[in-house]
Amino acid sequence: MRVVVARHAGVCYGVERALEMANGAADSEGPVMTLGPLIHNPQAVAALVERGVGVAQSLDDVNEGTVVIRSHGVDPAVIEAAREKGLRVVDATCPFVSAAHYCAADLAASGYLVVIVGESDHPEVEGILAHAGERALILETAADIPADFRARRVGVVVQTTQPMSALQDVVDALLPHVTELRVCNTICSATAKRQAAAAELAEQVDVIVVVGGYNSGNTTRLAEICRAGNPRTYHVETAAEIVPQWFAGVHVVGVTAGASTPGEQIEGVIQAIEAIPGDE
Ligand code: F3S
Repeated sequence: MRVVVARHAGVCYGVERALEMANGAADSEGPVMTLGPLIHNPQAVAALVERGVGVAQSLDDVNEGTVVIRSHGVDPAVIEAAREKGLRVVDATCPFVSAAHYCAADLAASGYLVVIVGESDHPEVEGILAHAGERALILETAADIPADFRARRVGVVVQTTQPMSALQDVVDALLPHVTELRVCNTICSATAKRQAAAAELAEQVDVIVVVGGYNSGNTTRLAEICRAGNPRTYHVETAAEIVPQWFAGVHVVGVTAGASTPGEQIEGVIQAIEAIPGDE
């Protein structure tokens, strides 16, 4: 059985950087906590806990030591409050998310009404909103534009993981309602690259295995995309979930993984598949 890994799979730049920063912080003095689980991957979070990096639900749970900010970023008021509490802050906000913060702040300072395209309850969007001035609007889709919406100068920023089509739809729908529209394309290509590579691979293999947390939105989406192209799609978190019967009569297996799946997990799954005896 041959295993082919998708051209783009596994941890993205921002998540890898956040993992390195959290692991680096593990050696600092005093307790180390991440503000919320560092990534949507239970095994990686458990490995961090093992290294002494715990998970705090809010700043109220951290009274000493170091707090690590996730790649999603936060409201700057949270960082300020942490420093006021005397905590050491390790800010692992992904630089692409910081760019979205910068764009939102710049648009607001230049007098634009800021529109954020993204999921309203996502922590990244909350962080962007905190930079976007007082009148900012969050739109999940073009259908969320209020019927009587009318504005002179509108500036758009977008959650980094949104598909280009979502940004395009909102921009098209806003245009008739505004005099001036400025768009900052803050989409990060990591998600789109993983999705395109998964869709391509799913159609070329007999079975495709998607590795990553069940609580990871981007991994679940990859599994949906793969399933659309290949019904023999299996989503697993670890190698222990691999079932040999899935591979009966199979010659080529595809493997892909979400942007929050560490390399060791992908490697473990590949080894488990390769260890399955062939039919011959
Ligand atoms: Fe950053 Fe893009 Fe990953 S914004 S956290 S590199 S998906």
